[in-house]
Amino acid sequence: MKTIIEPFRIKMVEPIKMTTREQREAALKKAHYNAFLLPAEDVIIDLLTDSGTSAMSAEQWAGMMRGDESYAGARSWYRFESVLKELTGMKHVFPTHQGRASERLLFQLLGGPDKVFPNNNHFDTTRANIEHTGAQALDLVIDEGKKPESLHPFKGNLDPVKLESLINEVGPSRIPACMITVTNNSGGGQPVSLENIKVIRKICDKYKIPLFLDACRFAENAFMIKQREPGQGHRTVRAIAQEMFSLADGATISAKKDALVNIGGVLLMNDSRLAEQTQNLLILTEGFTTYGGLAGRDLEAMAQGFQEILEEDYLTYRLRSVAYLGEKLTAAGVKIVQPPGGHAIYIDAAAFAPHIPAASFPGQALVCGLYRHAGIRGVEIGSVMFGKTDPKTGKTIHPPMELVRLAIPRRVYTQSHIDYVGEACAELYAERSSLRPLKIIEELPALRHFSAKFVEV
Ligand code: F0G
Repeated sequence: MKTIIEPFRIKMVEPIKMTTREQREAALKKAHYNAFLLPAEDVIIDLLTDSGTSAMSAEQWAGMMRGDESYAGARSWYRFESVLKELTGMKHVFPTHQGRASERLLFQLLGGPDKVFPNNNHFDTTRANIEHTGAQALDLVIDEGKKPESLHPFKGNLDPVKLESLINEVGPSRIPACMITVTNNSGGGQPVSLENIKVIRKICDKYKIPLFLDACRFAENAFMIKQREPGQGHRTVRAIAQEMFSLADGATISAKKDALVNIGGVLLMNDSRLAEQTQNLLILTEGFTTYGGLAGRDLEAMAQGFQEILEEDYLTYRLRSVAYLGEKLTAAGVKIVQPPGGHAIYIDAAAFAPHIPAASFPGQALVCGLYRHAGIRGVEIGSVMFGKTDPKTGKTIHPPMELVRLAIPRRVYTQSHIDYVGEACAELYAERSSLRPLKIIEELPALRHFSAKFVEV
């Protein structure tokens, strides 16, 4: 059969409120042209994020009912710990309330002024947590990873040459850890090859630098390794994922992605001294080590989710449904980051709205346009999220790409929802000159995209 169907049936539904263009125009104005400030009720198809938006399975809900809420040593904790140890092989497993809590713990312990953390591309919260300690977060993705049209199969790879020249420049003692984000969310959801992780591991060994994975989307990455990397096609995705983790000294994970839950995170490591410090900080700020700021039922749902995510029928459908949206947009002439990655389609907003310069936020203009036209909510990943002011010259430094991400929540939308999104993008593309430039009128110093206010100019 040619059609790859959703490998699940739906037994609980959530209504979507339909809105008119006039209603959306008013909502957009009220939200100061920032999609983060829109009430979710006013959104028809919500592609803001794939994080915490998954539909849980019957088994996960059953696990929620079985959750053991004991303060220490709950049954749910032991189940969670054993699933994670089996999957990752890591010695120390810490539950946290979400990915950025893991990042905050790790960088509070490893960061500080003078320190430098390389990554393929840091996600915004990772960068913010590193910079918050006074350290520097550097993006060393391969050059192909910055070219939207390049068809390189592993555009998330970290450039080994750039990494080694950074180590030689600043010295290994200033690099407390090297990170690799799988898949590379800020770089278009692109995968990292097993070969690349091995090469980076060797460099880290040479200079005695610990290697950490930001493993939010480890299963999607492992599946793309299976599909795209020579010699990997015969292996199970689980075996590939286990090997990815075996090459690292630790990992931060937001379970809101590939653990199919609505809240939760994990911090993993092998170093027992670092684990002892982490334990202290975790107890001080998150909760006791066997619950880490979560309920026992959340640990159950995560334990189940970390198993389900590796089911290959699910991953086949998942990757296919994202690629399907990519094909619809490409057929309509819309430029996207190629090839489609695991969790989202990234529209090249600079190409979509060439009449809007980076300083007037073409990505944000496209986000507003899509909402206004069809009630679809995406997110800007460009100059709003990553634009910076050079402290020396006062000039704005723009990121290499102006993107809009349409992230697909896991197991939530059906093919007709995706068809609707494809049609809306095509229609908007036909009238793209109507997209309007924007100006920021209010912003916070860190992570400004969440709360900035805009006006259309
Ligand atoms: N790392 C990556 C690669 C992420 O994509 C995210 C979250 C985090 C860390 C932080 O995890 O949200 O649980 O604290 N990404 C979401 C997104 C928010 O929309 O891409 P968190």
